[in-house]
Amino acid sequence: MKRLEYRGYDSSGIALLENGKLNIYKKKGKVTDLESELKEKKLPATIGIGHTRWATHGEPNDVNAHPHYSNNRRLSIIHNGIIENYAAIKQNLIGKGHQFLSDTDTEVLIHFIEDVQKETGASLEAAVRLALKEVVGAYAIVVMSVDHPGQLIAARKGSPLVIGVGENEYFLASDATPIVEYTKDVVYLDDYEVAVISEGKLSIQHLESTTETIPYIQKLEMELETIEKGGYDHFMIKEIFEQPRSIADSMRGRLRADDAHLQLGGLNDYLDKLAQSDRVVIVGCGTSWHAGLVAEYLFEELARINVEVEYASEFRYRNPVIKENDIVIAISQSGETADTLAAIELAKSKGATIFGVCNVVGSSIARATHAGAYTHAGPEIGVASTKAFTAQVTVLTLMAIALAKRKGTISEETYRQLLIELETIPAKVEKVFENAAKIKEIAFIFTYARNFIYLGRGFNFPVALEGALKLKEISYIHAEGYPAAEMKHGPIALIDEDMPVVFLATKDSSYEKIVSNIQEVKARKGRVIAIVTEGDTLIPGMVDFVIEVPDTHEILTPLVSVIPLQLLSYYIAVMRGRNVDQPRNLAKSVTVE
Ligand code: G6P
Repeated sequence: MKRLEYRGYDSSGIALLENGKLNIYKKKGKVTDLESELKEKKLPATIGIGHTRWATHGEPNDVNAHPHYSNNRRLSIIHNGIIENYAAIKQNLIGKGHQFLSDTDTEVLIHFIEDVQKETGASLEAAVRLALKEVVGAYAIVVMSVDHPGQLIAARKGSPLVIGVGENEYFLASDATPIVEYTKDVVYLDDYEVAVISEGKLSIQHLESTTETIPYIQKLEMELETIEKGGYDHFMIKEIFEQPRSIADSMRGRLRADDAHLQLGGLNDYLDKLAQSDRVVIVGCGTSWHAGLVAEYLFEELARINVEVEYASEFRYRNPVIKENDIVIAISQSGETADTLAAIELAKSKGATIFGVCNVVGSSIARATHAGAYTHAGPEIGVASTKAFTAQVTVLTLMAIALAKRKGTISEETYRQLLIELETIPAKVEKVFENAAKIKEIAFIFTYARNFIYLGRGFNFPVALEGALKLKEISYIHAEGYPAAEMKHGPIALIDEDMPVVFLATKDSSYEKIVSNIQEVKARKGRVIAIVTEGDTLIPGMVDFVIEVPDTHEILTPLVSVIPLQLLSYYIAVMRGRNVDQPRNLAKSVTVE
């Protein structure tokens, strides 16, 4: 449960079958709070279910924590997702005398399963299936019953579920991270599949049919050390410092500057289609949406194709104009974000071709897309995304260059230069780390700032948004990212001697313009922290603090300019005593809409 806690951590609980009894223990707070409560207890169980929660219905407290009991207390359930029609089902069950303890949709589902079993006389498995057919919404569930002590029933629709197959033992989890230390053999459950583990045997059936599917057992490639802190204080800082390697991993086997080789295996068959298309629509959420914005600049600049970047959640609820030769690129670290997944399904239904840029191998989005390229950044545990972002940007850069080459929209010379420059990026990121001590000092000075503004232009505009998001997420300081030129249309009113302004001011095509914007802020006494290109002699004389980053090709700037912003937010959050890896109210993987 601790390994899964990064997905949600407002409360946790376990249900165990102990000496013929079903006992549930749950607690508001982190898994360690539950752990300390149970430390002295003897828990003689070999089967159980547990859950760490990210509240949707009902506030985070002991009662709303999972697992939940059925009315007769003989069944229990854990659930990720949302049961949308729970209110109607609940009303009906209340009419039948059911009493509910919590405000959750999950408790309604287990009462409903009990009711179906009672009304139909069906087996537990059949009752689960019948109930799920009535349910509107998304779920990954596991059901345990005191009457079937050797059995667990699991099902999914929309929320991920992985089954680990060990020797004489099984594990069920939302992702493979808690399983990998016990077994590397896993089965990914698909939507509408119901798995029954009974008397040491696993069987899987589709919700609508009674024929069994043969479980497809895959070998995990994940190593345990990649999901441990390895001497760092937090996952986030470990992941920040991993970036030279993760960026290199995202290019490995795809790019060789020596002989001007660039190939994305997963996209080979689709490159022509992409080249013939008039429009690319990029969908994503949070940091992945920011990577999409960088991609907009990249694709338009290099491949001269029209790009639109959409929040997946907005896209799916409009009536978007999608044509058959449109390409939709879905970006997602987890590959499980519910809104992004729904956006894909919508675009697919309108005939578009969908590419995925995901980090988690075998994830729902990776499987729902026609083609794609994994980012290969390795598991990202810190809730604030860092190495996944730079890996996404790297892969999107490779895609844009490959497409530009195919379309002939860049010269052979630029093509070669970009490949050579890309190979130097990991070393350049490493170089930014030499400024860590300086960034820490700046963080110390601004630890108690109440607001921050981040400004950038062109390729650095999405970086400004990402820098502001990082700070908000983990330090809870209000921060806004803005295109630097837009500042004068509003945010400039906020500027006084208490307002720290972070400028992305690297030497690129808008350098002179950004210098003017810096002067506008200084004239109003704002305190400026500027991210500048190594050797800049102009800006250091104008601002309060500078952080240097190595020079690179303009289109690759985000890969280096975002690094100091990640570090700044990390150090500020640590100095403020925040829980960096598990910031309040956030979840790593948002599998609800
Ligand atoms: C959550 C996370 C963010 C992430 C976003 C999209 O909000 O806290 O860090 O950027 O989801 O997630 P995805 O897995 O689709 O990239």
